[in-house]
Amino acid sequence: MNLIGRTALITGAGQGIGQACAEVFAERGANLVLMDKNKRTLPKVADQITEKGGHVKAILIDLTHHRKLHKIIDVVKSQAHIDILVNNAGFDRPGTTMKIGKEQFNAVLGIHVGVPFFLIKSFIQEMRAARWGRIINISSIYGVQGAKGEAAYSTAKAAVIGLTKTAAREAGKDGVTVNAIVPGLIKTPPMIRLPDKYKIPIIEQTLLGRMGEPIEVAKVAAFLASDDSSFITGSTITVSGGWGI
Ligand SMILES: NC(=O)c1ccc[n+]([C@@H]2O[C@H](COP(=O)([O-])OP(=O)(O)OC[C@H]3O[C@@H](n4cnc5c(N)ncnc54)[C@H](O)[C@@H]3O)[C@@H](O)[C@H]2O)c1
Repeated sequence: MNLIGRTALITGAGQGIGQACAEVFAERGANLVLMDKNKRTLPKVADQITEKGGHVKAILIDLTHHRKLHKIIDVVKSQAHIDILVNNAGFDRPGTTMKIGKEQFNAVLGIHVGVPFFLIKSFIQEMRAARWGRIINISSIYGVQGAKGEAAYSTAKAAVIGLTKTAAREAGKDGVTVNAIVPGLIKTPPMIRLPDKYKIPIIEQTLLGRMGEPIEVAKVAAFLASDDSSFITGSTITVSGGWGI
């Protein structure tokens, strides 16, 4: 499962699942391009990986600022060939279909679907030309089964699966695999802050009876990023401890 010689771009790498992916990918030998908007967390993650001998380029950017992202992508492309893309950055704006405003709805769609779409569009051509590439999109159990009060997030996470399968169909013959990870409840900062009244019912439905650790998702992402997953594409891999099966 080694990633030696590969360069991976990971979005939302300042904390949570993205940070864990960065750490595991670095341990397995990948060079990293990390993106996040958080000025406090991203430099720390990059420094820690660098101290352990990893090669990291950290880019502070709000990925929803399309013009800035466009420019940054041009810079990244001029400096490195991206072999692996992990579309992980995200945020939630809860709200029922009746209550959520159009702006909030579009914001959630923007970060979870618009940004992955643009990044896939930006890098897939070079991956196909190189006859090797790995794209890993982070979806959610809510994207598979829907969730009351999560109209935008569930819609966005379902769309990510459609995008994954479509890109997989388009790029498969050129050696590029595209897969989605479908996490359950994972112990990242926003989920640690989530009140117990929301967490406990999910943990009760989770066959393993606990929240997942970010590293448990990151290890699956590292597998999908490696040559060991060479015959897996267009798949959704559920990492939920059995919640939502
Ligand atoms: N934690 C869970 O239980 C869980 C479950 C299912 C799916 N997911 C998905 O996994 C992914 C990571 O979740 P997490 O729990 O680690 O979240 P998190 O909030 O801990 O980390 C998300 C990171 O993305 C960054 N980010 C958000 N918006 C950004 C933007 N516009 N530009 C740049 N960076 C931005 C944040 O700064 C943060 O560092 C998300 O797509 C989330 O929807 C998480």
